[in-house]
Amino acid sequence: MFKKPPGIEDIFPDRIEKWNFILNTVREVFRIFNYREIIIPIMEYTEVFSRGIGDETDIVSKEMFTFEDRGGRSLALRPEGTASVVRAYIENGEYNRRSTCKLFYFGPMFRAERPQKGRLRQFNQFGAEFFGSDLPYYDYEIIAIMDMINSHLGLGNYSLLLNSIGCQQCRPRYIADLIQYYTEHRESLCQDCQRRLGKNPLRLLDCKNESCQQLKSTAPVITSYLCEKCTAHHAALQEYLGTGGIAYEEDPYLVRGLDYYTRTTFEFVSDRLGGQNAFAAGGRYDTLVETFGGRPTPAVGFAAGIERIALLMEERTESDRLDVFIVYSGTEAYQKGLELSGRLRENHISVDLDPASKSIASQLKKADRENARAALIIGDEEIRENRLTVKNMETGEQESIESEHLVHYMESISTEGR
Ligand code: HAM
Repeated sequence: MFKKPPGIEDIFPDRIEKWNFILNTVREVFRIFNYREIIIPIMEYTEVFSRGIGDETDIVSKEMFTFEDRGGRSLALRPEGTASVVRAYIENGEYNRRSTCKLFYFGPMFRAERPQKGRLRQFNQFGAEFFGSDLPYYDYEIIAIMDMINSHLGLGNYSLLLNSIGCQQCRPRYIADLIQYYTEHRESLCQDCQRRLGKNPLRLLDCKNESCQQLKSTAPVITSYLCEKCTAHHAALQEYLGTGGIAYEEDPYLVRGLDYYTRTTFEFVSDRLGGQNAFAAGGRYDTLVETFGGRPTPAVGFAAGIERIALLMEERTESDRLDVFIVYSGTEAYQKGLELSGRLRENHISVDLDPASKSIASQLKKADRENARAALIIGDEEIRENRLTVKNMETGEQESIESEHLVHYMESISTEGR
């Protein structure tokens, strides 16, 4: 028997309904914010990610699936979407067509992380990238999109963490002080952080090791190093969020695991996810387009993990419910059931039945397993009187209706549930 590699999942029909509900909701929110879809490749030349995300990040140094093509060039399965979207934005000359550009994408991403609940090696993201303005309104818009998705999906119990990590003008001074602070405590750092200290000191704030976490609590805080422009940018974003009614918590140590960020960083987190508590994250990256050889173009974006969002939506969504399961006894009732199922489906009402004639009790059990809103029961008495019994599967209540009224009756109860 073959098995799938660790950290890789099959998505069976019982999850597809929720999956499609998430995707449809997300697509609709992107539409109303005027974002257009882009489909980016699953693989890129490895340097797109190493330059884009940063050689010293865990993603690039430890987690990429790379291989050589037949000409000996290194390719990588994409670990995220931003670097690819930036590469595509420049390569396709999008900036010549419009001064600002709003794009969104869906798809599988690949990171060779240690698999656990909510942490996979192949996982799916949706994300958005905005190009062409450094106005804080756009940082707000990106956050507002995710906030609206959360509310349309009915997610509760989460927080938005917000920070600014400054710009190339103000960050170096902060980094210098951070290096000094950590150098003084070098012996308490984990091996990884000792190595990272010289190369990428911001990453130390993100280390999960207990003694590094402890050191973090007294480390210098970026907020007091921000230049005037970064301070004003952050204050304006806070004001937008306040006006938009989006609650947030400031977290001055939120640095993120990718090196391209400037100024705003944010994460949507939920305790219900355990160790992997972020289900969506992003920030501003004003220098990445230039780093990739494009003309200077400020940008901001986010991405969310679909599997983590699905974990947060424990209940099946109302819209994925079966409207009616037909339960019958005897051949005549079965024929009647088939005829009714045709009529109902023509009226866009979802119907299922079990053609292997079984007892009424076992058919009702199946109706329950299929998560039907109602069971339509057709027995001898119903045939004789040309009536039907409708059982509400939630309350257990039964009602007798005339056959002719069936479609109308079903329409009313299936829209009620939505
Ligand atoms: P990220 O924080 O690396 O950011 O990933 C975004 C989201 O993808 C996470 O919050 C999480 O929900 C999901 N995710 C990441 N790794 C895994 C995994 N191993 N298993 C399951 N889900 C995972 C980015 O990818 C940036 N590109 C976001 C961005 C866009 N920044 C600016 N624009």
